[in-house]
Amino acid sequence: MDTQPAPAHASSAFTADTVSVVFGGTSGIGRAMADALRARPGRVVVAGRSTDLDIADPAAVEAFLATIGPVDHVVVTAGSQAPGGPVASLNLAAAKAAFDVKFWGAIAVARAAAGRLRPGGTLTLTSGFLARRATPGTFVKTAMNAAIEAGAKVLARELAPLRINVVSPGLTDTEAYDGMAPAARDAMLTRAASTLPAGRAGRPQDIAAGYLFVIDNPFVTGAVIDIDGGALIQ
Ligand SMILES: NC(=O)c1ccc[n+]([C@@H]2O[C@H](COP(=O)([O-])OP(=O)(O)OC[C@H]3O[C@@H](n4cnc5c(N)ncnc54)[C@H](OP(=O)(O)O)[C@@H]3O)[C@@H](O)[C@H]2O)c1
Repeated sequence: MDTQPAPAHASSAFTADTVSVVFGGTSGIGRAMADALRARPGRVVVAGRSTDLDIADPAAVEAFLATIGPVDHVVVTAGSQAPGGPVASLNLAAAKAAFDVKFWGAIAVARAAAGRLRPGGTLTLTSGFLARRATPGTFVKTAMNAAIEAGAKVLARELAPLRINVVSPGLTDTEAYDGMAPAARDAMLTRAASTLPAGRAGRPQDIAAGYLFVIDNPFVTGAVIDIDGGALIQ
């Protein structure tokens, strides 16, 4: 029988000194995560192009983290756009630009955060359900998200005992879809509601709960947390 006392719930480990940074915290899922962190003690810093940080610029990421100092929890949700369509007609420049933001941006953050995360610290990246779903026309998102999931497991070994995890959202109603015509966006959400086992599209707060889970549970590292309404079991 396990006679160890139950570990203190890690959310109680947040103090006035706790520092969290959310790259992509200016919108959508990242903003919901920043809001959730602000409900706890400590400092929460958000970053995006609208706060003058381009995550695709590794020197800028390094300089930005240097201004913050030691950190406890780093979350990366930045970069929701990627070109779609068949590989045969893929715009390679746009595909590489998407990788520069979402994949290489996450790696730039990991590189810069590695020496700044305090003991007990976490880094949580974001992939997406297409990482493990072969859908024609989604090559760039699939490849980017799969690379993040695979790379995070290596990072979790290299940076242990810091904990590195990935949250993989399914279709979630955020500003990422603001560019769609309203009727097309409604049709997409209605289709999700009728086809997903969970019966609806995700809300940013559903996904934020996944980042909180991996931050709070000291036994979770190298994990990919699917929060996708059942997209991968359809
Ligand atoms: N929503 C979904 O259905 C869905 C599904 C699967 C996976 N995901 C993933 O979940 C993550 C969050 O998506 P979301 O729906 O919350 O998207 P979103 O609302 O469009 O937010 C994206 C965030 O990324 C930031 N960002 C974009 N380019 C950046 C850059 N070059 N440098 C720094 N920050 C940058 C944006 O801030 P600025 O505008 O200030 O730069 C914004 O805060 C993404 O990785 C996305 O691929 C989303």
